[in-house]
Amino acid sequence: MKLHTTDRSLKRKQQKQTFLTAMPNDFLSTAIETALEAGDFLRRHFETDIKIAEKFSHDIKIELDNLAQEKIIASILKDYPEHQIIGEEGSIGSKDSEICWIVDPLDGTVNFTYGIPHFCISIAVQKRGKTIAGVIYDPMRGELFTVSEPGYPKLNGKVIKSSQRSFLSESIGVIGFSRTKETIAKATDLFFNLVPKVRKIRFTGSAALDLAYVACGRLDFYIEQQIQIWDIAAGILLVEKSGGKIMTKPIIEGKTFSLKATNGSLNLDFVTFD
Ligand code: IPD
Ligand code: CA
Ligand code: CA
Repeated sequence: MKLHTTDRSLKRKQQKQTFLTAMPNDFLSTAIETALEAGDFLRRHFETDIKIAEKFSHDIKIELDNLAQEKIIASILKDYPEHQIIGEEGSIGSKDSEICWIVDPLDGTVNFTYGIPHFCISIAVQKRGKTIAGVIYDPMRGELFTVSEPGYPKLNGKVIKSSQRSFLSESIGVIGFSRTKETIAKATDLFFNLVPKVRKIRFTGSAALDLAYVACGRLDFYIEQQIQIWDIAAGILLVEKSGGKIMTKPIIEGKTFSLKATNGSLNLDFVTFD
């Protein structure tokens, strides 16, 4: 049954209220409110007239990437004007700030642009470089992944756990291809190595949701050769606190990484990054 628009906004208001009263951590409350608002904004613009800002061989930037980030920045600074924010579409604030927000305003821009309803907003809060809260919000499914330190990782308020599958032959996972010729070649090799060994490999187009899916047990692993801090900061804490394991190798210290996430039961030690 299709919900009427006013019913839908009422449902979202109630949803927001539930999440906010359930979350004691102030940073997490701001992150949730911010992600829900940005998510509403993106959902309203889904399958409308999308303006391409830049095109690359294997990537796209749209105006909504920037507009969503502007909204997110305004919402965070309203509560915490002195904090630093590092976003995919630009950064603001002083490096001396103890607290830094790491933001991907739209993870899955190519999906969004092609009308594929699989994308999210990812927001992490770091204190002196350590992630203490994270939110990943999929506005099309109304799925809100939250985590804070201390606290449990949750999906729509319910505690989540990574999967228990330990046999590679029964596993399902994602390989990300990043966007350069080199990363595509490496991911292709990895795909040929893994695909005969596992039940299924998927390519989804949203690294943050891939990590959230490992955290809630839908996926058993996620591997990407080159990924940015805003794609993974919130997702790493979700995976770690849900029983999963993360292995990263820095490419640019603090910014760009190779990443392997597993459910914590699966042995993927043979997958390494050179
Ligand atoms: C991209 C997505 C994609 C991953 C790319 C990222 P964007 O982020 O997370 O799944 O493979 O490496 O850049 O550009 O849509 O925010
Ligand atoms: Ca991204
Ligand atoms: Ca993005």
